[in-house]
Amino acid sequence: MRTVHVSAASKEYDVLIGIDAVRSLGAEAKKLCPKALKALVVSETNVAPLYLDTVNDQLEGAGFEVTDYVFGAGEQNKNITEIAGMWNKMAEAGFTRTDIVIGLGGGVTTDMAGFAASTFLRGISVIQIPTSLLAMVDASVGGKTGIDIPMGKNQVGAFWQPTLVLEDISFLRTLPDDVFTEGMGEVTKHAFIMDLDLFDKLEKANGSIRVDEELLEEIVYMNVSDKASVVGEDENDNGRRQTLNFGHTVGHVIERDSGFTKPHGICVAKGMGIIMDACVRAGTLSAEDAEKMKDLLRLYKLPVSDEITPEVIVEGAMNDKKKRGDTLSVILVNKIGSAEIKKMTKEEFLEFLSV
Ligand code: GLY
Repeated sequence: MRTVHVSAASKEYDVLIGIDAVRSLGAEAKKLCPKALKALVVSETNVAPLYLDTVNDQLEGAGFEVTDYVFGAGEQNKNITEIAGMWNKMAEAGFTRTDIVIGLGGGVTTDMAGFAASTFLRGISVIQIPTSLLAMVDASVGGKTGIDIPMGKNQVGAFWQPTLVLEDISFLRTLPDDVFTEGMGEVTKHAFIMDLDLFDKLEKANGSIRVDEELLEEIVYMNVSDKASVVGEDENDNGRRQTLNFGHTVGHVIERDSGFTKPHGICVAKGMGIIMDACVRAGTLSAEDAEKMKDLLRLYKLPVSDEITPEVIVEGAMNDKKKRGDTLSVILVNKIGSAEIKKMTKEEFLEFLSV
């Protein structure tokens, strides 16, 4: 088992990564939350039939009284109604401040479980057990929790660091291919903004990291280490953490315009491709590096462009929660492995995106 330690300003915790990592859940939960008597396991309808029994057995074996909350899979259910359902379940079961929430699923689940935990009784512990590649390398680490509202994704939420993140690589065996591919959007993003070794490893693996679980574990570990270093420096997203938004300002607009039917990681890949093209036109990124990065995206079956117009991107981006005042923080990659935060007005961003 590999361990990444996250030293966020508000809390320190470990991310445990390995095949069959879930087998340590009971003992770890008992050790980290010795006063907890009850656990709410939050999961969704695709994941629960696969792993809920295993997780419940672990917790019950360690003496916890377990309550489950299973919601309908999908981004459309990432809303306040489901959160209220979680609050009510905990209240009915008599949860106190020392009890715990477990998030078992992809990014939607870990974001919602974290948000329910951050708000119930003004905050109780959450242990995250991500089951998708995207949630393992990104969503479950770093304490961003929340829900969507009609105006946009993740518009309501809280920073709430988990007590533990358990990443069981064997859970990726059941992940559909398209969902795995989506996760590669965030994996390649880490390579582009900060990790040349990861870039090289992904290039050498030639598009097939799924078949080799040891390699997959190493790649997940590298990504979690990258994310942990950023969160350790800037938990509240005021500086370096914003570089993790590479491709996201554009990607979120594409995602929202599709009514959230296009997967997040796919939209991020499109957004990264669009920003790379703009950087090449602006002369801040070499065409050679841009082509190498796009080749890596293509190698992992990710798109590199979209039909969306600069006008639509800019209008959508001006409603994004990442906007501060009148300016946007646009993340640029100036060479492979190195990102920059550039403040742009609406007009500057439009000019940057336009041919
Ligand atoms: N997903 C980007 C972040 O956690 O900051």
